[in-house]
Amino acid sequence: MSKKILVTNALPYANGDIHLGHLMEHIQTNIWVRFQRLIGKDCTYVCADDAHGTATSITADKLGKDVLQWIDEMRASHIDDFAAFSIKYDNYYSTHSDENRQLSEYIYHKIKEKGYVNERKVRQLYDEEKGMFLADRFIKGTCPSCDTEDQYGDNCEACGSTYDALDLKEPRSLLSDAKPIIKESEHLFLNLKMFEEELQEWMANSQVQSEVSNKLQEWFDKGLREWNISRDAPYFGWLIPGYTDKYFYVWLDAPIGYMASLQNLCQQKGWDFDKDFWRNPECEIYHFIGKDIIYFHALFWPALLQAAEYNQPTGVFAHGFLTVNGAKMSKSRGTFILAKKYLQHLDPQYLRYYFAAKMSDGIEDMDFNTTEFSEKVNSDLVGKYVNIASRCARFINRDFGNKLGKMPEQEQQDLLAGLVAEGDNIAKLYNARKFSAAMRSIMELADRVNKYIGNSKPWELAATDPKDERVQQICTTGINCFRILTIYLLPVLPDMADKVAQLLNIDSWSWQDLDKQLIESEICDFSPLLQRVPAAALEALLQE
Ligand code: MSP
Ligand code: ZN
Repeated sequence: MSKKILVTNALPYANGDIHLGHLMEHIQTNIWVRFQRLIGKDCTYVCADDAHGTATSITADKLGKDVLQWIDEMRASHIDDFAAFSIKYDNYYSTHSDENRQLSEYIYHKIKEKGYVNERKVRQLYDEEKGMFLADRFIKGTCPSCDTEDQYGDNCEACGSTYDALDLKEPRSLLSDAKPIIKESEHLFLNLKMFEEELQEWMANSQVQSEVSNKLQEWFDKGLREWNISRDAPYFGWLIPGYTDKYFYVWLDAPIGYMASLQNLCQQKGWDFDKDFWRNPECEIYHFIGKDIIYFHALFWPALLQAAEYNQPTGVFAHGFLTVNGAKMSKSRGTFILAKKYLQHLDPQYLRYYFAAKMSDGIEDMDFNTTEFSEKVNSDLVGKYVNIASRCARFINRDFGNKLGKMPEQEQQDLLAGLVAEGDNIAKLYNARKFSAAMRSIMELADRVNKYIGNSKPWELAATDPKDERVQQICTTGINCFRILTIYLLPVLPDMADKVAQLLNIDSWSWQDLDKQLIESEICDFSPLLQRVPAAALEALLQE
């Protein structure tokens, strides 16, 4: 058994396209994973599509497609979108898989056998025309508190009250427009209260943000409610063993999808799912999620894992929601930006850097502000970082036959040592997911290097004597600093690092190599590494 890190992203619903909000989460996670690998950690990164639930089958019906074909297409499209942003998982699977069905059944047997499941009858709204029970989002009616019309089955947007769909006045089904009847059926409930003590203990011993533990404490104080894990047929999901017309609720098999994806990977690699990962005391498990799904990940999920005698999460890292120019992402306002749309107009590296420059370890919402977006990218990446390479490489290319020189001056060695010395601090910030602080620190170093080049004025020396070896030394120092900054930025800008590796003839990057130096080695011809954000393209993105 060896030390391992397992990292997951919340499984996107198969039912919709990847948008900037998803990207914010997956970029955050990908940066963290890339950092862990860069410092030499054994880090496995899995995700999957969350395929089940009525929404998926209803959309497939509307499109006239077989649901299995539909989820395959969506999965392929999601994988492509993420890959375009340099996000690659060790496995990107689906909750509609044999592994998932088997694990869901296994975990269900465990919770049942240990007496955590209660069965009782529930009265719900039923659409006779469609022959199905209605989830809250498929019902609208008049608010029982304030009489506002056209409100969903669970809460009122006008007065904010929450209620049971049965209390809604004048209810109607959004699937058929029929007036639903009240019908009774048997349901299975996980008795969460029985887990309270263990959940408290898990919370105290795992990495959860203070905002998350406060939320959990609130739920504990209110008293944990039992959780309905069953849904009536017709439903797209797994039949519950022993029933012919009852399915697992999509949120039961969704987190099990993390396991299913890993198990499928283990089969491909010949790894041991239990011994290497989920029952390995040396394996750390981290889930990156949005703040809207804390309840599922910090209560239900650790409870299910405990009942089935699997390791519980080492950490659950929640993030806030992305807004676009101050507004909620909305299709009608044109602020709902899909990954594919972004890719038509802008370089994915801009977004990776912009998000990194704004991300913290907290759960506050984050705004995608288009003005700030171009300012950040242009001034930091193009103006500070890439600028170092373009200022220095051209002298090396033009006057020194692509050959770097030595760095004999104390000032040069001090500058490099100063950059390397920041490594521990930057590593700490990456590890703590304080990416904005890490980017600030890296850009301060870039400022230092630009100042050194500015003060040393290689262009003046070159104007007098193009072969003055001090020019070569200054530019060699600049290039060496650029190399260090590239390692610091690699978790955020892996594609840039690939280009820099070509430019500087470097085979591989490692955090351990920070204090190596390139002396008298050859570089290649410089070609622009990154363009400024084209203003017209940014505008076009929002206009669509
Ligand atoms: N399928 C569930 C997750 C199951 S995990 C076992 C789900 N899917 S989702 O597609 O709606 O959301 C996936 C992730 O994207 C969630 O972590 C969610 O918080 C995140 N985001 C969705 N919209 C978002 C923003 N606008 N901003 C930031 N994150 C957002 O929930
Ligand atoms: Zn109301």
